[in-house]
Amino acid sequence: MEFFVTHQAVDHYSGDCSVAFVLKGKSNENRIIQNYLDLHRFEPKLENTLMLGKVEGYKSKRVLVVGLGESPLSQKNYIKALKSLSSVMRVSKVKNVVIPCIDVEDADEAWLQITTARVLKNESYKVQKVGVKEEIGDIVLEAVNIYSQNNGVSEIQKGVAIANGMALARELGDLPPNICTPSHIAEKAKSLADTYNLECEVLEELDMESLGMNSLLSVSKGSSEPGKLISLSYSNAGNEAPIVLVGKGVTFDSGGISLKPGQGMDEMKYDMCGAASVLGTMSAIAEMNLKVNLTVVVPTVENMPAHNASKPGDVVKSMSGQTIEILNTDAEGRLILCDALTYCEKFKPKTVIDIATLTGAVIIALGKHHSGVMSNDQKLADALKSSGLSSLDTVWQLPLDEEYDDLLKSNFADMANIGGREAGTVTAACFLARYAKNYSWAHIDIAGTAWLGGSKKGATGRPVPLLTQYIMDQV
Ligand code: BES
Ligand code: MN
Ligand code: ZN
Repeated sequence: MEFFVTHQAVDHYSGDCSVAFVLKGKSNENRIIQNYLDLHRFEPKLENTLMLGKVEGYKSKRVLVVGLGESPLSQKNYIKALKSLSSVMRVSKVKNVVIPCIDVEDADEAWLQITTARVLKNESYKVQKVGVKEEIGDIVLEAVNIYSQNNGVSEIQKGVAIANGMALARELGDLPPNICTPSHIAEKAKSLADTYNLECEVLEELDMESLGMNSLLSVSKGSSEPGKLISLSYSNAGNEAPIVLVGKGVTFDSGGISLKPGQGMDEMKYDMCGAASVLGTMSAIAEMNLKVNLTVVVPTVENMPAHNASKPGDVVKSMSGQTIEILNTDAEGRLILCDALTYCEKFKPKTVIDIATLTGAVIIALGKHHSGVMSNDQKLADALKSSGLSSLDTVWQLPLDEEYDDLLKSNFADMANIGGREAGTVTAACFLARYAKNYSWAHIDIAGTAWLGGSKKGATGRPVPLLTQYIMDQV
């Protein structure tokens, strides 16, 4: 699918299809279209669509009418309209289309171009079934023309780069856990490094042993898949301190000896979606050739029960020197992230943001709409909230008061790895905060947003839009 900016009026477009947006309470400027709307009793409700054939005055073969609901049109509703437009294009086998430029509340034309390209490209993403070849000869949307009156630079390629980053994250997330192992993620990182000329380092278990990463290794040791610590650096802003993103890469979370129940356990293949999202973001930023320094760090392991796996009650010493009593081997995410956070200090970061499918509790608190964010720096939390709003990949802040941190007390080590039933998302973040004292840090819990279950089971590509937008907002 390719995107173009066109300066030719929508009715002059002589391709497959022209889009006509209609808001509630406003009749269409084009009399003939309005007659059709009256004839079909079309209500311009949000997501309502009407595909017309040849319309007088339009050069295209067909005209697709898309309802936008109430005026003014919000960013959210514009995206909903794009999604319904995209599904009609698919069933009506449209190959190329022109989309008018419309007024969206609080948005400029750059936003419109980036968002239109990102959403349409992401909607066209096809889930790859393992070993099944894609059907050839399928009619798909090949060209999208977005109308613009201005001669400014096109922002479309940024939207495409974000959608490509999301596709990478979705592909990795959806892969079965026997294929998407820590070694597979390391290979993927190396191939990204080759494509974009990034610096890549992969630490093996022996390297991590000499660095004292016993907390990370305590998770990895119960699996026959070797754990890795991957770092990828993109430098395009001289000596500026880098933004560092850390992504949880548990390629399968069985819970370990604190074994999870069987129901829905397959979805724990998605426990590497933090890792997938930071790799996707790296790909988007590098594809845009943005003037920033960005490093991504991915601790990746498989969490399995085995005779040599960690046991509840085990005590380990992390790379920071702090000791941890492992009361529950299913709280493994924080055990690998804490060593990764200590490792991040070597990059002398401007900010560190970790992204993790860390707690089931965040799904109870926020559902599937917002990711949870917690931070030791309110300015950083505010920046993430604002980038979330403009990319429509939103976060909701939870508190990090020291009263919650008290729940991590242990009689046998500096801290326990769980806090109990209450405020599970916050105590997980409190645990991480103990390893992030030396820099400005935020933690994003994406357990509710990184994938969907049920009949729509699949990775969403979130929070690639949020992270990419946050980095773009720093330039
Ligand atoms: N990967 C899970 C979190 C998770 C659970 C994500 C369900 C999505 C759906 C994490 O490693 C985990 O198991 N967390 C435990 C923590 C608990 C033992 C303190 C949880 O949330 O139950
Ligand atoms: Mn777990
Ligand atoms: Zn997990």
